[in-house]
Amino acid sequence: MKIIKAKDYKDMSRKAANIISAQVIMKPHAVLGLATGSTPVGIYKQLIDWYNKGDIDFSEVTSINLDEYRGLDHNHNQSYWYFMQENFFKYINIREDSINVPDGSNPDAKQACEEYENIIHAAGGIDLQLLGIGNDGHIGFNEPGAAFELATHCVDLTESTIEANKRFFGSKDEVPRQAYTMGIKSIMQARKVLMVANGKGKADIIKKAFFGPVTPEVPASILQMHPDFTLVGDEEALSKIELD
Ligand code: PGA
Repeated sequence: MKIIKAKDYKDMSRKAANIISAQVIMKPHAVLGLATGSTPVGIYKQLIDWYNKGDIDFSEVTSINLDEYRGLDHNHNQSYWYFMQENFFKYINIREDSINVPDGSNPDAKQACEEYENIIHAAGGIDLQLLGIGNDGHIGFNEPGAAFELATHCVDLTESTIEANKRFFGSKDEVPRQAYTMGIKSIMQARKVLMVANGKGKADIIKKAFFGPVTPEVPASILQMHPDFTLVGDEEALSKIELD
C-alpha cells in the first residue's frame, strides 16, 4: 500500500490524474476502471485539460465503470452513464463503443451482471481501477458486510446510501432501491487500484480502513491486501494517520 499526501483537493486531483495519465501513456490501449461521486470530478477536469493541450490521447482507451443504478437507462440524468458523459467522456476522444457501464435498463439482474463480467474479461481485465470511499467504507456499491468473493452483482442500497443520494433526485421515493456493482472480487482483480479521498469527513474511515483489521464490515479494508494499491488523500483526509 502506498499513501501519497496532497495539500488540498486540487493537488489530490492533479496527483491522481498524473497516475492515470502515466498509465495511458505507458499503455495507450489501457483499460481504466472509472468511478462516479464528487471526489473524482477534479481528476476528470484535469485530464480534460491535459487532453485539450494534446498531452493525453484516449482514442485507444477502454473504460469500465464501477456501478449503475438498477432501473435507470443511459438518458436518465442521475444515471452513472450520464454522469460520466457530462463530467468526462463528452470532452475527450474516447470511442463511444469503448465505454462500459452496467446496463441499468436491463431488469434481469443475473443477465446484466454476467454480461458485465464478460465485458471485463473480454477487455483483458482492468489495468487501473479508480475508487472513492464512502463514509462507511463502501467501495462501488459494496456496503459493509458485502462478501469479499463476489464479482459484479445486484445490491440493495442501504438506508444511509438512499438518504445520502436523495439530494440528486426530486424526492427520496425517486432514488432507485438497487444497483448493479462490480464486486470486491472484480475490484481486487484490477492490476492497479487508485483511491482518492479528500476532506475531514473521510479522516476516520481512512484510518479504520487502512490501519485497522481487514473485515467485510469495512469493505475498503481488503485493499490492504492488494499488491498495487495507492491512496492519494488530501491533508484533511489523512489527518488521523501517521505517515513516515
Ligand atoms: P464521494 O463518494 O466521492 O461523493 O464522497 C464516494 C463514494 O461513496 O464512493
